[in-house]
Amino acid sequence: MKTLIIYSSYDGQTKKIAEFLAEKLTGEIEVRSIFDEFSLDADRIIIGASIRYGHFNPHLYKFIEKHTALLNRTSSAFFGVNLTARKANKNTPETNLYVRKFLARIAWQPTLGAVFAGALLYSRYSFFDKMMIKFIMKITGGETDTSKEIEYTDWQKVAEFAEKLNALN
Ligand SMILES: Cc1cc2nc3c(=O)[nH]c(=O)nc-3n(C[C@H](O)[C@H](O)[C@H](O)COP(=O)(O)O)c2cc1C
Repeated sequence: MKTLIIYSSYDGQTKKIAEFLAEKLTGEIEVRSIFDEFSLDADRIIIGASIRYGHFNPHLYKFIEKHTALLNRTSSAFFGVNLTARKANKNTPETNLYVRKFLARIAWQPTLGAVFAGALLYSRYSFFDKMMIKFIMKITGGETDTSKEIEYTDWQKVAEFAEKLNALN
């Protein structure tokens, strides 16, 4: 059983989640950036992607459009990563607006879906991004101290997703 995990990540958190999943999954595992060159020959395909200013990377849509038929005939899963998902009522594919809209827009129907909270890494952001994220955190009741780095990812929830993936044929 071969599993391919493909990630679309700006600052590395989605990649980190992909690598964590890789450790928990059974069988042969390959982890690739969506920008790499790789074969899609796998028994399970998992795609994870993060949100930046309300959007997934446009390349993600292109990739999925190109491979919809193959994805739909393979056991597959999608997980979205964003900071909105740090809130308990916004952390499922049904309740997280980014993921809900994404799944409604594409023709790929993943067998499983999940949403994970990402990380707030102020020190790595440009001045503009830092100010923007600080503002968003202020209006949504999040951390505004830009000297802090907070990982909101619930690793137990990621491990539970891995268990569900392992049960996929
Ligand atoms: C510039 C920037 C814009 C972001 N915009 C959003 C957003 O619109 N909504 C949201 O919920 N999270 C937003 N985030 C949070 C990211 O989705 C979160 O930090 C995630 O962990 C990033 O994953 P990555 O490192 O794999 O790209 C933003 C983060 C940055 C740095």
